[in-house]
Amino acid sequence: MFRELATQDTRAGAQAIPVIAIDGPSASGKGAVAWDVAQRLDFHYLESGALYRLVAFAAAQQHVAIDNEDALATLASNLNARFAGQQIFLGEKSVGDAIRAETVAAGASQVAALPGVRDALLSRQRAFRQAPGLVAEGRDMGSTVFPDADLKIFLTASAAERAARRVKQLKEKGMRASLPDILRDIQQRDTRDSSRRVAPLQMCADASLLDTTSLTISEVAAEVVRRYRQSLAHGPP
Ligand code: C5P
Repeated sequence: MFRELATQDTRAGAQAIPVIAIDGPSASGKGAVAWDVAQRLDFHYLESGALYRLVAFAAAQQHVAIDNEDALATLASNLNARFAGQQIFLGEKSVGDAIRAETVAAGASQVAALPGVRDALLSRQRAFRQAPGLVAEGRDMGSTVFPDADLKIFLTASAAERAARRVKQLKEKGMRASLPDILRDIQQRDTRDSSRRVAPLQMCADASLLDTTSLTISEVAAEVVRRYRQSLAHGPP
């Protein structure tokens, strides 16, 4: 009985910690926006896509087939990943840049379609909910991982704008990038992410839409914070 009460208390405690869930398609600016919002509020930050990228990256390294669900789920459960701010480590190795490669992104989208992998990553994502609060970004933050989030934002931008942003990002990192190839990849990934059976990318009924096509990261982050403060004062927008 005591144990039952303790479990309930812990859960109630975790739910009292605010979460801002930011979902949206590839290259909608989620990562940069969520990081900026987390800095403004002094909240923790979860980049959930990095977990799927890490699974795909580790699978390639360990020669695990990209459709071997059981092996990939085991790999996801045992992933020796560590996040330090925006830095990402797999074991002792810093892999933040390596997992940004488009080949890893394509693998991530494939492993993300496997229910076993999603289940294996669920509790790991929820563990990021720590005081004073969390900004979590991905595809299913509002629908599946944090359905009780205090604010749910769905970011959009046209596919052409997202492709242009991704090309700029890759070039800044010194990687080669071709706009038509990236646009095609983004469109393929959008289709796969929104049509998959488990946790498809879709806007929750209780999410608020934010189109970022003509806005800067900083403008979008300021708007998210405004909506969050408004939700504290009046309930969700
Ligand atoms: O956000 P990012 O582009 O890094 O995500 C890589 C892939 O991981 C996405 O294409 C998507 O398939 C998957 N993903 C997901 N659910 C999340 C985050 C990412 O399925 N919450």
